[in-house]
Amino acid sequence: MKQLGQSDPMDDTWIQQQLDIFAKQGLERRARVFPQAGGLIRIDGTEMLNFSSNDYLDLARHPHVTDRARQALDEFGSGTTASRLVSGTLPIHEELENRLAKEKGYESALVFGSGYMANAGTIPVLAGRDDLIFADKLVHASMIDACKLSGAKLVRWTHNEVQALEKRLEQYESSKGRKLIITESVFSMDGDIAPLKEIAALAEKHGAMLMIDEAHSTGTFGPNGAGLVRELGLENAVTVSMGTMSKAMAGFGGYVACSSNLRKLLVHSSRAFIYTTAPPPAVIGAALGALEVFEASPRLGNILQANADYFRSLLHDAGLDTLDSRSQIIPVIIGDNEKALAVSQKLREENIICAAIRPPTVPTGTARLRISITLAHLVDDLERAAKAIIKTIKG
Ligand SMILES: Cc1ncc(COP(=O)(O)O)c(C=O)c1O
Repeated sequence: MKQLGQSDPMDDTWIQQQLDIFAKQGLERRARVFPQAGGLIRIDGTEMLNFSSNDYLDLARHPHVTDRARQALDEFGSGTTASRLVSGTLPIHEELENRLAKEKGYESALVFGSGYMANAGTIPVLAGRDDLIFADKLVHASMIDACKLSGAKLVRWTHNEVQALEKRLEQYESSKGRKLIITESVFSMDGDIAPLKEIAALAEKHGAMLMIDEAHSTGTFGPNGAGLVRELGLENAVTVSMGTMSKAMAGFGGYVACSSNLRKLLVHSSRAFIYTTAPPPAVIGAALGALEVFEASPRLGNILQANADYFRSLLHDAGLDTLDSRSQIIPVIIGDNEKALAVSQKLREENIICAAIRPPTVPTGTARLRISITLAHLVDDLERAAKAIIKTIKG
């Protein structure tokens, strides 16, 4: 029975008010249904160039990857039905972790349910209430949420500016707790690359641990697609190299590569590792398949980057702003939320899918098209898309 003064719990006026605010700001969102994944898809019989998929190496339907997923499904079943520490760890989890560790150049690796969970499960183990985390201004939401979860004091520094980081580290020089620096190697929304060598030098100078999110550089940079930490030989300077199997690996799940001791500690205390069911066999099989493709075709990342360079040059020649993108992720800055949406919709009429990314995913006033180049896009496709984007934006 309702008590006097208690509001009606089924009254959803407040929900409608919140939704109205999103609508007013041009920030309405919905999960549109796509019939397929990947860079080239068919919708109602029409072939569409999809520049909003992170299937960078076009592996989501690669026969080796799907075969490996199917084999694991047949051998181990649809799910693991238990958490890793109970009875959910299968031989393929260990096989994948050993393989990831070897490829990344670390003693150990630990697989999580997603990239989000890898961050949420690792950062709070590295830093707690008495500690400091120094985060680049543009790190992914999963890292920021993990920082909040950790209870550590969060200090932000201007995106990719090493001097700004140094200033922050000096400012907190005398602070007692552990220090952790976090950044991404390839940034998810800007496609630019962190100055990892300089950041690693600062971490060493100031006695800080360093964690790099390689979500967008795995598969796309480095030997056998091992990422930028490996390419730059920074394995001994980077405490944790984190990644996800959901982008160039075309599957699902996340991981961290680190020392054996840190892995042990994560197994003991990472809540996102302990209190969840182990990732299903097909997902692990697909990840192994993707790593095998990386090894068999080590130049895929180079081809992808050459194509991305070409595409970027076409946009630059037309005077479009792609920030400091140096990877397969190419932002085209539009600014206004509504205009970004209108451009995205117009391109769809030309069978080109480019997601409009708006705040809060990107800073206010920087609404953009986020273009993901994938190996499904041939040079002709890139030229057609560049032409259409330039025409739509410039008129
Ligand atoms: C930089 C970065 N880190 C972490 C994640 C989370 O990975 P996942 O999608 O596997 O949860 C993403 C993407 O979603 C990302 O872009």
